[in-house]
Amino acid sequence: MMEISSSSGRFQCQQPRRSVLTVVSAHKTLFTLLWILGFSSLFFWQGNSVEGIQIFLWSARRSPGTPLPTLRPVAFNLTAFGGVGDGVTMNTEAFNRAVAAISKFQKMGGAQLNVQPGRWLTAPFNLTSHMTLFLAEGAVILGAEDENLWPLMPPLPSYGYGREHKGPRYGSLIHGQNIVDVVITGHNGTIDGQGKSWWTKFQKKSLNYTRGPLVQFMWSKNIKISNITLQNSPFWTLHPYDCKNIYISNVTILAPIFEAPNTDGIDPDSCENVVIENCYISVGDDGIAIKSGWDQYGIKYGKPSTNIVIRDLVIRSLVSAGVSIGSEMSGGVSNITVENTYIWDSRRGVRIKTAPGRGGYVTNITYHNITLVNVRVGMVIKTDYNEHPDSDFDPEALPVIANITYDGIHGERVRVP
Ligand SMILES: *[C@@H]1O[C@H](CO)[C@@H](O)[C@H](O)[C@H]1NC(C)=O
Ligand SMILES: *[C@@H]1O[C@H](CO)[C@@H](O)[C@H](O)[C@H]1NC(C)=O
Ligand SMILES: *[C@@H]1O[C@H](CO)[C@@H](O)[C@H](O)[C@H]1NC(C)=O
Ligand SMILES: *[C@@H]1O[C@H](CO)[C@@H](O)[C@H](O)[C@H]1NC(C)=O
Ligand SMILES: *[C@@H]1O[C@H](CO)[C@@H](O)[C@H](O)[C@H]1NC(C)=O
Ligand SMILES: *[C@@H]1O[C@H](CO)[C@@H](O)[C@H](O)[C@H]1NC(C)=O
Ligand SMILES: *[C@@H]1O[C@H](CO)[C@@H](O)[C@H](O)[C@H]1NC(C)=O
Ligand SMILES: *[C@@H]1O[C@H](CO)[C@@H](O)[C@H](O)[C@H]1NC(C)=O
Ligand SMILES: *[C@@H]1O[C@H](CO)[C@@H](O)[C@H](O)[C@H]1NC(C)=O
Ligand SMILES: *[C@@H]1O[C@H](CO)[C@@H](O)[C@H](O)[C@H]1NC(C)=O
Repeated sequence: MMEISSSSGRFQCQQPRRSVLTVVSAHKTLFTLLWILGFSSLFFWQGNSVEGIQIFLWSARRSPGTPLPTLRPVAFNLTAFGGVGDGVTMNTEAFNRAVAAISKFQKMGGAQLNVQPGRWLTAPFNLTSHMTLFLAEGAVILGAEDENLWPLMPPLPSYGYGREHKGPRYGSLIHGQNIVDVVITGHNGTIDGQGKSWWTKFQKKSLNYTRGPLVQFMWSKNIKISNITLQNSPFWTLHPYDCKNIYISNVTILAPIFEAPNTDGIDPDSCENVVIENCYISVGDDGIAIKSGWDQYGIKYGKPSTNIVIRDLVIRSLVSAGVSIGSEMSGGVSNITVENTYIWDSRRGVRIKTAPGRGGYVTNITYHNITLVNVRVGMVIKTDYNEHPDSDFDPEALPVIANITYDGIHGERVRVP
């Protein structure tokens, strides 16, 4: 049993929290505006069709009996684009057609794509701006297992190359790049990466490129992910990269707790203004890992992760940590609040990991009201996490670690607090 409280009150991390909330409520205002815009445009759209695709219009007001809520002025069913939810038919073209159709609505408040109950097998596809992907109860988007169907993408600039191999990396199953105002939500439908085949190939060392994440946003902003389940990612599950204004709520993230290597839950990477709340995460690596690039590449890219609130989570990470910062943190990590979080059956509780060569900083971090149950080591700051992209890192680039507050950390069956 341990109980650690800071009474000095030396550092308060309230400001970032407030500013993040402002962002979130601004986001709500945006949605309200989109609604109003949507209603005023209904008249115009009615009876029209765009490029021969039949458009289905409804709203909560017009058709109260519709099973799924419509959060955009217009909504489509995936089946309207040829989707077949039998678990066998490939739906890549259906998703691509749907996204192309939705991209025509950007100036009109966007559009929603409904994925109905069923098993919708697909290769990776890209999202577009002002899009809502809505997963009905019983809807499962299944990632194709054949890696030849996964496009290769350039390495992330702040990593120098794919995390596991030199050169390019596989893209993510659901990808968004340079887009704004995107929502993935539903009635707890599922995105399933079918990662098992990837984990096996990784362990046999038969992959030539770094595995892809399940959902990745790059250089995007105003992203909301809620009320869904993400499971069996080939690699990191949800990876926002150099993004702004991200709200993640009520998401369940699952992967086997053994033999699902690197299936981190959520990895905000060089991101600003992030709220992650009310999620359940049980995975084969870190539950949350806040990052900002790797050694000389991350220092050069120079984008910190900052203003991040993580609260009301339940996390299990049997082989790694509940909430990590690093080890890639070369662009800096600051203004992080982790609170009201329950971490159980985990190897580490809350951990900061870094190494000489990383540069950057980890500062203004507050851990508040964290409960650890059956955890091997509770609070960790590890400064020799010596895993480097290549030998060109600068061993003199020492990270600065400052202003870390632990306040109200409770533990039960914690072997080393
Ligand atoms: C630590 O916080 C204090 C204010 O509480 C601030 O003046 C100082 O710059 C911070 N140090 C770092 C390294 O961020
Ligand atoms: C962190 O928060 C403080 C206010 O508490 C703000 O002054 C500072 O600019 C923030 N840091 C970054 C990198 O945004
Ligand atoms: C979409 O599919 C659902 C069944 O899952 C159906 O009830 C609804 O009417 C469909 N909407 C349109 C516009 O076809
Ligand atoms: C998604 O878009 C990115 C950027 O344009 C591109 O590199 C990638 O190949 C696209 N992915 C798919 C599956 O089309
Ligand atoms: C979380 O998601 C479930 C399933 O979709 C839903 O029933 C519940 O109301 C959601 N909870 C909150 C707080 O949004
Ligand atoms: C959502 O579905 C997942 C997986 O089926 C389940 O574990 C979780 O409890 C569900 N969440 C809610 C809020 O019903
Ligand atoms: C990896 O590269 C080797 C040699 O070029 C090739 O034989 C093998 O098929 C490749 N494996 C995959 C999964 O692409
Ligand atoms: C989650 O679902 C619940 C129940 O349908 C709904 O009330 C809530 O607004 C949703 N939350 C988000 C953030 O989408
Ligand atoms: C840390 O917090 C202090 C005090 O709020 C602020 O002045 C400073 O800019 C913050 N540092 C970073 C790197 O955000
Ligand atoms: C502390 O966190 C737990 C969840 O781990 C929550 O149930 C409890 O309400 C929190 N306490 C306070 C005072 O917020």
